[in-house]
Amino acid sequence: MPVAPSKPIYTGKAKDIFETDDPNILRAYFRDSATAFNAQKKGEIQDKGKVNATISTLLFQLCEKNNIKTHFVKQISDRELLVKRVKIIPLEVIVRNIAAGSLCKRLGIKEGKILKSPIVEFSYKNDELGDPLLTRAYIINALEVADDEVLDAITELTLRANEMFKDFFLNIGIKVVDFKLEYGIDSSGTLLLADELSPDNFRFWDVKTNEKLDKDRFRQDLGNVEGAYQEMLKRVKEGSHVIASGLSPRNDANIKSFSVRVQVLPKSDILDPQGQAVEKALSSLGYKTVKDLKIGKEIVFKINTGSKSEAEKKVKEMCERLLANPVIEDFKIEIGQ
Ligand SMILES: Nc1ncnc2c1ncn2[C@@H]1O[C@H](COP(=O)(O)OP(=O)(O)OP(=O)(O)O)[C@@H](O)[C@H]1O
Ligand SMILES: [Mg+2]
Repeated sequence: MPVAPSKPIYTGKAKDIFETDDPNILRAYFRDSATAFNAQKKGEIQDKGKVNATISTLLFQLCEKNNIKTHFVKQISDRELLVKRVKIIPLEVIVRNIAAGSLCKRLGIKEGKILKSPIVEFSYKNDELGDPLLTRAYIINALEVADDEVLDAITELTLRANEMFKDFFLNIGIKVVDFKLEYGIDSSGTLLLADELSPDNFRFWDVKTNEKLDKDRFRQDLGNVEGAYQEMLKRVKEGSHVIASGLSPRNDANIKSFSVRVQVLPKSDILDPQGQAVEKALSSLGYKTVKDLKIGKEIVFKINTGSKSEAEKKVKEMCERLLANPVIEDFKIEIGQ
């Protein structure tokens, strides 16, 4: 698709938006500039534009695979995406799984509190007003930027996207704390997920260490901002590669290897001819004090699971289904790390 070299039709805080030869297609150019606290804090994060363009591409593709329609058309360079032109609904659609940011400030609750159920909330996308939190009635009756039906559709899509993202990111060792989405309506009237999907508008914490791997590193001067963005790019690429290759996702963060030893013996009230024969033979060799000899088997292997109790549960099931005959045999399981 030819790309018109032109002046941006919109210069935002993180991206420039250009028209193309096709009136329905826009080109989004991702810059390195970073802002926080409604642009009161400004800076640069080296290569952020490249990271965010590529992460957005991979996550929009993930959405499309899961029947969530997006504005994404294609990535044309390391910083540029072609997207379908939409009329952006001026709402910041925020999903929260774990308390952080403005929720903690507003309600005085501790960062890190796991919310009973995911929360979807709406803010007015309006920098001059400081993106205020909205009620449903404000949106429908005061601002009139969406009706009941559209808000229901947005809420349903957003919660579905949340479940999909939580799964995807858990497999690359990341907790999705919260994120902000923007939706728009295209020329045919279809509701599309738009804007970007990146560490600028998601809070990502490492599963093992709770290390912040998103724009909070910039907001809170935590250092190594570039490193966090690069780490997220690496992990998202890895997660996408696993999905594309059709392999079951690897969960480095949670999977451990356990050694298993299973002992199987005939039950005490069951006749064990082999045991009896050996006991008799020992007796004839002079070992007459040997009693109740049983002969069984020992099975050893390794298993990869999330926890010792999960390993125990699986091995017990294996014993009941195959490794032992529960009618005539007892089994004993030992699990080590
Ligand atoms: N497919 C699209 N069609 C039209 N506009 C879009 C599309 N996707 C994103 N946008 C808009 O383009 C702008 C992207 O620029 P950027 O993210 O830098 O903006 P921003 O500084 O966050 O500005 P804003 O305060 O408007 O969100 C946003 O206003 C966003 O709503
Ligand atoms: Mg933006």
